[in-house]
Amino acid sequence: MVMKKKVILDVDTGVDDALAILLAVRSGELDVLGITTVNGNVSLAQATINTCKILQLAGAENDIPVVQGADKPLMRPSHFEHKVHGKDGLGGALRDVPVHKQAEPGHAVDFIFDTVRRHSGDVTLVMTAPLTNLALAVMKYPQLIHEVQEVIIMGGVVQGFGNVTPTAEYNIYVDPEAAKMVLQAGFPKLTLVGLDVTRKALLTEKHLDALQDSPFADYVRASTADYMQRYQERNGVRACALHDPLAVGVALNKELVTTGHYYVDVETRSDLCDGMTVCDFQNRLQRQANVHVCTGVASEPFLELFIEALRR
Ligand code: BDR
Ligand code: CA
Repeated sequence: MVMKKKVILDVDTGVDDALAILLAVRSGELDVLGITTVNGNVSLAQATINTCKILQLAGAENDIPVVQGADKPLMRPSHFEHKVHGKDGLGGALRDVPVHKQAEPGHAVDFIFDTVRRHSGDVTLVMTAPLTNLALAVMKYPQLIHEVQEVIIMGGVVQGFGNVTPTAEYNIYVDPEAAKMVLQAGFPKLTLVGLDVTRKALLTEKHLDALQDSPFADYVRASTADYMQRYQERNGVRACALHDPLAVGVALNKELVTTGHYYVDVETRSDLCDGMTVCDFQNRLQRQANVHVCTGVASEPFLELFIEALRR
């Protein structure tokens, strides 16, 4: 029997985090040990409700614990994204669905450390939100970096423009101090799935049609409708960028992306560029590479994998 890859997801459940959770659960190839929530697209409380609702929708509410983490960034105020993800964070798609599942007692930071230690060397952390929880975990448990198998982060952009400011991607922008700490922490394997690749993983009308015989078709169509509209206004294409699902895709199959190993740091002291991920492609700073940066993606194979998982 093939051992499933053990993962913990850390989410701020908005539209694409929800799709990432569905992919992780429905792929059947991951052992999701737990989901930790954090302030980000929406408040911590809303992210937790949304996560519980998605697990109910996926039929996994009894199998996967949800644990709450930080309710604000390390040093900055919250920066919600209701414009993109809607008032409730799920584009209103589950507005009237009652939530039965509740978060477990305890804090995400302790849950991450205890779970990783229990399966030392075997757990991949898939981070699809501001990195506050992981930064707090590294501060409280510095030995964590030696016990994790890999950290996969949806965040940053190294060769293009940001999606909050001209230079910064949302997850890094919201808590740049946390992101800097995580990137500099010394994790032996850290992969950055940034906008460079996630902007190429576009769910379009064609893919929605292909989802028709999936139990999640109505949900996906409803939750992505406004998101697609916003994306079209900004980028001229009607699509939903599968930012967070691609991070799960990388956990499922590394071959979906090409990567380069570089030194990457985060700007935290600039009016204009806070949250920018600076990648030293030419090793000008002579620092040791700390991040496997995704530079290319096999978009259609990833979309196929996504659709297959949801149809299964
Ligand atoms: C990231 O920002 C959030 O709004 C999304 O959920 C995703 O994690 C994309 O920049
Ligand atoms: Ca997210």
